[in-house]
Amino acid sequence: MIKIFRLKNIISIKDFEREDIEYILDEASKLEDIAQSRDISEELKGKILGLMFFEPSTRTRISFETAMKRLSGGCIGFTSSGSSSVSKGESIADTAKMFEGYSDALVIRHELEGVSKFISDIVDVPVINAGDGAGQHPTQTLLDLYTIKKEIGQIDGLKIALIGDLKFGRTVHSLSNALCLFDNVKIYLVSPPELRMPQEVLHDLDKTSIEYEEVDNIEDIIDDVNVLYVTRIQKERFADINDYLQIKGAYIINRKMLEGKDLIVMHPLPRIDEIDGDVDDTKYNKYFTQAANAVPVRMAILKTLIKNNPK
Ligand code: NCD
Repeated sequence: MIKIFRLKNIISIKDFEREDIEYILDEASKLEDIAQSRDISEELKGKILGLMFFEPSTRTRISFETAMKRLSGGCIGFTSSGSSSVSKGESIADTAKMFEGYSDALVIRHELEGVSKFISDIVDVPVINAGDGAGQHPTQTLLDLYTIKKEIGQIDGLKIALIGDLKFGRTVHSLSNALCLFDNVKIYLVSPPELRMPQEVLHDLDKTSIEYEEVDNIEDIIDDVNVLYVTRIQKERFADINDYLQIKGAYIINRKMLEGKDLIVMHPLPRIDEIDGDVDDTKYNKYFTQAANAVPVRMAILKTLIKNNPK
């Protein structure tokens, strides 16, 4: 286990080595007691987190805020472009420079790929990418891996199905990249032909020894997987709403399909109709636990980056 976390910014999971991931997961499990018992520690007392959310968010923003508050820090920020001076014509660069003056780290969500990277190049405080368009969502991946490890005990050797909108879903892009760092993992990529995993991500997978297979139907793989990772169709990223309407509801997981299977169901949320409500009160449902795990994992991220990079 490494002693010092190398990265100053969390922009893409592709910047991580396995030991960097393990460092954060290990820190998160040490902080889990505080998160679970609704307690606080004073690790980040007096520190301020800047939240720049140009795109909607519920879980990511709220869990970053909760994480910061459980470490005795404070939060500032905005929750949409409309509520910031960007709506008056201020540049993202100026907005970020101003936030740098107020905060010890920045969390950015934006509909354009590459915005977090751009900001990390012009500010001195750590920058965390909380989702950039259809690009990456690295902190979601860290909490996904934390959940898999906690629920199943390991990540090595697992068979994981990524289901739904693999084209526009940033969570599955980051997760695929991260799974390449583990041993003997097999990924099933389950999507309608129109929403296949982008070539760029497949190319990343091809550069490693990870095994993957593209399939059309959940039925073909459901008996062979440890994890069903379900995602919503990303309506807001379709250029033509009719294309969305044709694909909508393409995959729906229900209780009957899962009966007798030895697997867990995960979802980054929000869910639209991909997982039937009848799965919620079964042992398969790990999506709400997954959302709760965001707090210790984001506590670990904030503690590590802010303590390693004092202003
Ligand atoms: C995801 C996102 O924003 O990419 N949500 C999240 O952060 N938990 C998934 C989604 O919006 O479908």
